[in-house]
Amino acid sequence: MAEPRRRGRRPGQGPRPGQRPAARTSRPPTDPARTAALAVLQAVRVDNAYANLALPAALRDHGLSGRDAAFTTELVSGTLRMRGTYDAVLGACVDRSLNKVEAKVLDALRIGAHQLLSMRVPPHAAISTTVDLARARVGAGAAAFTNAVLRKVSEHDLDTWVERVAPDRDKDPSGHAAVAHSHPRWVVDELRKAVGPDELEALLAADNAAPRVTLVARPGRATPAELPGEPTAYSPYGVVLEGGDPASVPAVADGRAGVQDEGSQLVAVALAAAPLEGPDNTWLDLCAGPGGKASLLAAIAAGRGAGLVASERQPHRARLVARALQGSDGVLGVVAADGVRPPYRPGSFDRVLVDAPCTGLGALRRRPEARWRRRPDDLLELVLLQRGLVGAALELVRPGGVVLYATCSPVLAETAGVVRSVLTGRSDVELEDAAPLLPQVPDAAGPLPGTLQLWPHRHGTDAMFLALLRRR
Ligand SMILES: C[S@@+](CC[C@H](N)C(=O)[O-])C[C@H]1O[C@@H](n2cnc3c(N)ncnc32)[C@H](O)[C@@H]1O
Repeated sequence: MAEPRRRGRRPGQGPRPGQRPAARTSRPPTDPARTAALAVLQAVRVDNAYANLALPAALRDHGLSGRDAAFTTELVSGTLRMRGTYDAVLGACVDRSLNKVEAKVLDALRIGAHQLLSMRVPPHAAISTTVDLARARVGAGAAAFTNAVLRKVSEHDLDTWVERVAPDRDKDPSGHAAVAHSHPRWVVDELRKAVGPDELEALLAADNAAPRVTLVARPGRATPAELPGEPTAYSPYGVVLEGGDPASVPAVADGRAGVQDEGSQLVAVALAAAPLEGPDNTWLDLCAGPGGKASLLAAIAAGRGAGLVASERQPHRARLVARALQGSDGVLGVVAADGVRPPYRPGSFDRVLVDAPCTGLGALRRRPEARWRRRPDDLLELVLLQRGLVGAALELVRPGGVVLYATCSPVLAETAGVVRSVLTGRSDVELEDAAPLLPQVPDAAGPLPGTLQLWPHRHGTDAMFLALLRRR
């Protein structure tokens, strides 16, 4: 990450974000909130950093907290999320192709566009602070260029720009949606196939809204009543945090509760709810890293006198699982192992969760840069891995036992496609109706009869897919 500039406003001093610093030195001081945002964008672009990990470090480096930190967070996540729309707008304001614009300058232009088109920053402040950034980072020429481009951007509001630069909705619906809702076109196409044309725009819009923070009270260790906020609609363990830093909630600080999307909670709830005849002692989470669902499963298992093995291929992620499970009862072990070739005796588990590695296109609202990282080619490799993991899980489960296959993606190849191909040629496996596992969740029919699909725009959860498979 670039060396942070230490000049400019300190928290609690001088002008607020959006205002120009009063005093000028020979070089204008850049606003620390915007400088930090630019540093995160650069880390995401150059080092492939995750914004949610790079951001806290940048806030610390620039001494930002409170309102300033919130401003920087909005700048980073909004700019990354809406990049597709802003690039279409900027493309109309620049006399050359955007890929000929120096990357650092383009980052600054996107930050400026976000302030002008989606935040309530006065245009003169949005432009002058971005020009200062371009001057400090690149030079006088870049500053003049940034000034000229952002002045053009400021001539219209976002809706007017979308009307001007997006392809016609009737002639090219995917192209229109891609620009209007800032998703890559191939992602729009995959999501349309999954959700259908009528709800596509609602889904894309939901991907662009920052989700509320949801907590999970791990049963037997904490109760929803002791967490600050309202109960979630569907998970019996969930609470929507009323505000503030989740780490400051005592039950979260000591690991009895955690931050977890309600859809992820429902995956664990569904596996635990599957009816089972015979023994029900030994559960497995085959792809457990970093341990969110494993923590909830272990707590539920402990309450029933069962135990969970948490397995994860990547050793560093297995360590995260071990940390997440510290203090939990109901843990039989944490193992770093390839789930396609698992080191367990066939038929030795009663319930197995395959929360498979996937494109993550159902969780775009919480990972603002993810949509630009994924490539259509990723799908084939992931689908092969998903099939391998489900096949292995079916060998690990005893006759009569269940495998719950879940993805945080609604993309059909990873959901219905995987289930169909696993079922083909296996007379010892049945796809069971998963709806009775989550009777409290309405309108969640999945792409294959009996499967479930949650949606951000319908349920307020990540777009989790669930399929319940049983060994005969
Ligand atoms: C969707 S994430 C699981 C999230 C986790 N269940 C939770 O709730 O925190 C998928 C995980 O599968 C792991 N993984 C990828 N390939 C694997 C394999 N061959 N065997 C086991 N785990 C694998 C990834 O490292 C990743 O941690």
